[in-house]
Amino acid sequence: MSDMLVPLYRLPKENEPSTDFSIRRALAPEKSIILTWVKDHFGQGWSDECDVAFSNAPVTCYIAIQDEKLIGFACYDATMKNFFGPTGVKEDARGLGAGKALLLRCFHSMKEAGYGYGIIGGAGPVEFYEHTLGAIAIPNSKPGIYAGMLRSTPTSANS
Ligand SMILES: CC(C)(COP(=O)(O)OP(=O)(O)OC[C@H]1O[C@@H](n2cnc3c(N)ncnc32)[C@H](O)[C@@H]1OP(=O)(O)O)[C@@H](O)C(=O)NCCC(=O)NCCS
Repeated sequence: MSDMLVPLYRLPKENEPSTDFSIRRALAPEKSIILTWVKDHFGQGWSDECDVAFSNAPVTCYIAIQDEKLIGFACYDATMKNFFGPTGVKEDARGLGAGKALLLRCFHSMKEAGYGYGIIGGAGPVEFYEHTLGAIAIPNSKPGIYAGMLRSTPTSANS
């Protein structure tokens, strides 16, 4: 998966707040709840990246909430400065616009922080980022910063 580039000087405007969910910056006291949720829904690696977002001030993680429950999250400045991700919306809440709202909130926040461009690291659904942001793939960016990254393997009795 290649990285993708997003020009922050022509970001789409954020939508009006939805009646289905709300988006806000995560609070430090919510860290354990959010990291556990991310681990349960998207795995340890993304939870670890999210943990780094909580070490920034202000916290560089936004969350989507529906009926007082977490339905999605998005981070930036986690694995690399200027990188967006990880992000995820729980399966039964997809298609409501929360993924796009989180994405736009993070990129507008990056612009406010002084960045001119944002990078989506190892972009997953490329069409989602092309469609919502006009992001373009960065040539020769695969595997990029993730080259040689350790991956968890199933534990064996002798390891
Ligand atoms: C990608 C993801 C965050 C999208 O969240 P979502 O809440 O379902 O997305 P939205 O409802 O905000 O969709 C916004 C727009 O993008 C489109 N879209 C959503 N997912 C898409 C996909 N996988 N491919 C192409 N377009 C997509 C929607 O149709 C919608 O279009 P519209 O604005 O014209 O109506 C979600 O599918 C997810 O969590 N996936 C698994 C984790 C993942 O892949 N994360 C990214 C890793 S880099």
